[in-house]
Amino acid sequence: MIEDVIKFPAEPAGLYDPLRYMMDIGGKRIRPTLCLTVHGLYCKEPSREVLEAAAGIELFHTFSLIHDDIMDRSPLRRGVPTVWTKWDETTAILSGDQMLIEAYMHIAKVPAACLEKALDLFSKTASEVCEGQQYDMDFESLDSVPMAGYEKMIGLKTAVLIACAAKMGALVAGAPEAECEALYRYGYELGMAFQVADDLLDAYGDEKVFGKPIGGDILNEKKSWLTVRALEKSDDPEAFLAVFKRKCASAEEEKDKIARVKARYDGLGVPEDARAEIGRFSRNALKAVEGLGRDTSPLKEFADKLIGRVR
Ligand code: IPE
Ligand code: IPE
Ligand code: MG
Ligand code: MG
Ligand code: MG
Repeated sequence: MIEDVIKFPAEPAGLYDPLRYMMDIGGKRIRPTLCLTVHGLYCKEPSREVLEAAAGIELFHTFSLIHDDIMDRSPLRRGVPTVWTKWDETTAILSGDQMLIEAYMHIAKVPAACLEKALDLFSKTASEVCEGQQYDMDFESLDSVPMAGYEKMIGLKTAVLIACAAKMGALVAGAPEAECEALYRYGYELGMAFQVADDLLDAYGDEKVFGKPIGGDILNEKKSWLTVRALEKSDDPEAFLAVFKRKCASAEEEKDKIARVKARYDGLGVPEDARAEIGRFSRNALKAVEGLGRDTSPLKEFADKLIGRVR
């Protein structure tokens, strides 16, 4: 798989050890898997070039996680300490930057025939992810965010990269333009489902399986799908916000706040709504590739696995 084409220099260890660490602690590898799955719709064997493209996308994703964990003050990722807590913030900034450069080095190895399109797609996506991350941070200090604003934000921070992974697999395989676009749409809708599921698991997952601290979004006052929906449904949004915005001075208070916010979500039926929304996005994804004119069962399988995720 992609690990075969990724190799970091030994020195300076302070720069490259965090990169090795992030790749070695695993992760679900959903983006490269999707890239290869789409490529597999067109080609029997994964070529060296598609492995390079898939690796570039996973490296970009990993870069975004290293910086996201600084931004979200998150201590845990994939069940182990985040780079900024295991080393320090400056290390995480520079290693993240290097990871982004490594990503480009791999994307640049796609076949010459699709290089320009691949680089355009990748750069546009990378820029959009930064825009999404900025909206995500901006939303922390707003009392409420409309569902349309939330969807725009997760579309940028999460869905476009999954869409890019799908389209990249098609581009490298030399697929016709219309099919590349249908696959992009499939990835986008799936990415939307994926982020709503991430928000749901952030409050309701099992920390040992999910690998991230449960309740982190609540403590960061993130406008997650759950909070946006709760504010939409509640007939007393001020009361919800009073609990949601309470500052905590100890781990005990944090635990209490998470429990209280979750009790509000539960009372409003928000988790059930989130599951319905995940299903809706996933159906949209499959609709996007209905007319593709080839066997899309691998795409159906991939979508099913993704929405059934617990980690
Ligand atoms: C985490 O992505 C960031 C989001 C977009 C929710 P993943 O859940 O794919 O993270 P890893 O790579 O499996 O750890
Ligand atoms: C995911 O946002 C988006 C990116 C990392 C670009 P989150 O902040 O929800 O991701 P996790 O939950 O930390 O993985
Ligand atoms: Mg974040
Ligand atoms: Mg985060
Ligand atoms: Mg999250």
